[in-house]
Amino acid sequence: MRAPSSDLPIKFQNVTLRARGVVILDAIYASFRAGKPSVLIGPNGAGKSTLLRAAMGLVAPDDGRITWGGRENAPPDRRAIMFQRPVMLRRSAAGNLRFALAAAGIARTRHEERVHQLLALVGLQGLGDRPARRMSGGEQQRLALARALAREPEILFLDEPAASLDPAATKALEDTIRQVARSGVTVILSTHDLAQARRIGGEIIFMNRGRIVETGDADAFFIHPETDAARRFIAGELLT
Ligand SMILES: Nc1ncnc2c1ncn2[C@@H]1O[C@H](COP(=O)(O)OP(=O)(O)O)[C@@H](O)[C@H]1O
Ligand SMILES: [Mg+2]
Repeated sequence: MRAPSSDLPIKFQNVTLRARGVVILDAIYASFRAGKPSVLIGPNGAGKSTLLRAAMGLVAPDDGRITWGGRENAPPDRRAIMFQRPVMLRRSAAGNLRFALAAAGIARTRHEERVHQLLALVGLQGLGDRPARRMSGGEQQRLALARALAREPEILFLDEPAASLDPAATKALEDTIRQVARSGVTVILSTHDLAQARRIGGEIIFMNRGRIVETGDADAFFIHPETDAARRFIAGELLT
């Protein structure tokens, strides 16, 4: 049975996370709500991927707490994550989706219909029989997106979704992400690519060195950043 309650908002209250004694997330307060996308930006090593993994529930904080719709232990049934380098199973594109549908507890009788819908949604219609690992980088990334959507998540985390794609493949993926967001899925995405952050829009969360330095609506953030670090990041300077 699917829980009727929502996983939103996701709240971070004073969340600190360490790896081998090094602080990776430093006293984070954040609240992710339904509605427009949230876009984590910041230089490499800022803690974006770690924050996404924590919000997905894959890593537990060392201090502080994370709640999903007010609950501390919310199984990830309604959340999905697409990693920066997705790994496909050694089977067809459709086979990968069937596997994800089964894992999500979707009845077998619905699989063929859903595989069709998912492939079409990400622009891979007709490619269901291709061996997934032989597909191009852009195709595999779109297949990974379809796989993440198999469980019809309420919340979709995307970690650097276009990191290794050429501009055309990036644009196609972004179009699909915007479409998914418009369909009512709450999208929380990380990127080190400022142009991509602008194109996705929504709420910007600027991170540096394990901290959230500044947040704001995308339009306002890029025109009038409030902190010196954000100004320098937007200007393309290296942050230390
Ligand atoms: N399991 C881990 N063990 C040690 N260091 C880690 C681990 N995971 C992340 N880090 C370090 O934490 C910092 C933040 O990593 P990450 O969240 O991947 O940043 P971002 O996604 O913003 O590039 C980096 O310096 C990274 O090397
Ligand atoms: Mg990362």
